[in-house]
Amino acid sequence: MAAFSIHGDIIWTEEPGSFRYAEGGYLTVDEGKIVSVSSDRPADAEVIDMEGRLVFPGLSDLHLHAPQYAFMGLHMDEELLEWLNRHTFPEEAKYRDVAYAEKAYSILADDLLHGATTRVSVFGTIHTDSTLLLMRKLEEAGLAGCVGKVAMDRNSPDILIEDTDESIRETERFVRESSAFRSITPSITPRFVPSCSDRLLRTLGKIASENDLPVQSHLDENLSEISWVQELCPWSENYADVYRAAGLLGRKTIMAHCVWLNDEEMEMLRSTGTFIAHAPSSNRNLSSGIAPMRKYLDFGINAGLSTDVAGGSSISMLRMIEDAIGVSKLLWRSDSSAGRPLTFPEAFYLASKGGGAYFGRTGSFEPGYDADIAVFDDSVIKTVLRPGLSVPERLELLVYRAPESRAEAKFVKGRRIL
Ligand code: GUN
Ligand code: FE
Repeated sequence: MAAFSIHGDIIWTEEPGSFRYAEGGYLTVDEGKIVSVSSDRPADAEVIDMEGRLVFPGLSDLHLHAPQYAFMGLHMDEELLEWLNRHTFPEEAKYRDVAYAEKAYSILADDLLHGATTRVSVFGTIHTDSTLLLMRKLEEAGLAGCVGKVAMDRNSPDILIEDTDESIRETERFVRESSAFRSITPSITPRFVPSCSDRLLRTLGKIASENDLPVQSHLDENLSEISWVQELCPWSENYADVYRAAGLLGRKTIMAHCVWLNDEEMEMLRSTGTFIAHAPSSNRNLSSGIAPMRKYLDFGINAGLSTDVAGGSSISMLRMIEDAIGVSKLLWRSDSSAGRPLTFPEAFYLASKGGGAYFGRTGSFEPGYDADIAVFDDSVIKTVLRPGLSVPERLELLVYRAPESRAEAKFVKGRRIL
């Protein structure tokens, strides 16, 4: 791949709390990696002219449900367990039909392609073939990340349940057949403790560790869910302990939500390097509560942001930045012990480098990082202020006023995908 350089208004975060930027700068890429950000035009690279555009790192969505995109924005007046039973499980059951999956996943992949997201960790359904098709759609769109065939062997409706051995067998087939993909890798995906028996969880833990695979699940999202887990697993110290006992926590694991972690669970996640996928839109829509991210970040737990489509009602990671800041303000005002609200550069960091750390070196423009880049034309935001605004101020306007904008160009590992 020949070197190229994007000329535009370049902005990124290397640490929470402060932006780096270069107005009218040159972001040079070689062999799929960031080489430099400079104010001088490089002599030996093709220049892609994006003058006046915002150029920032592609964002990482650490948790979304692909089959739920079809009903995103509907049925938002219930809490988690009722919402799952009444709306989510019946919709997911439709993905037994690969033709339905083909239609729905094509729309999802196209919409993801046109937003700011470059990396994803995605739930499919229990259906292996539809989930392999989802991987193909995401790979064809040029995106990178992980996809999981969901495992569910208990407390689920007849239309969306597997028996334990079938779930194990199909997970193994899923892992085998997904070796056909390059930028999308398989993730071991127990839905959550209520829908997975102890034997299934432990076998999935074994498959993950033997094959060194990523893992994704849900943890401590809703108070009724947490009480139910206590009833189902009376032997466990707490909810996170069930995943720990199955060997499912670690640096390659994402736990979505974590609204209600207790001190022992916080320590368990921190010491294992497990990532939290904070899902502010979903926390609000399902009245789950607000994950105290300031507390978790101060404690040193790895974390990023996520849409949790369709608990979350937008696929835009720019909107999740606004939502993460917004819910942190409400939490702080109602409980000052939760700590200061997230600031704009902190929330941008979580959406880019913070969550990106799950996938390796992505989400920043430091040399050697994967060249995952989003380019947005913010001139569509009409304001008399614009000529006087700094690059960080323009990024803030994009987040608050036009988060559903379509990207003008996008790159993943240096390859232009849009
Ligand atoms: N917990 C178990 N399944 C789900 C799901 O599909 N969405 C959310 N938000 N939480 C879950
Ligand atoms: Fe979820």
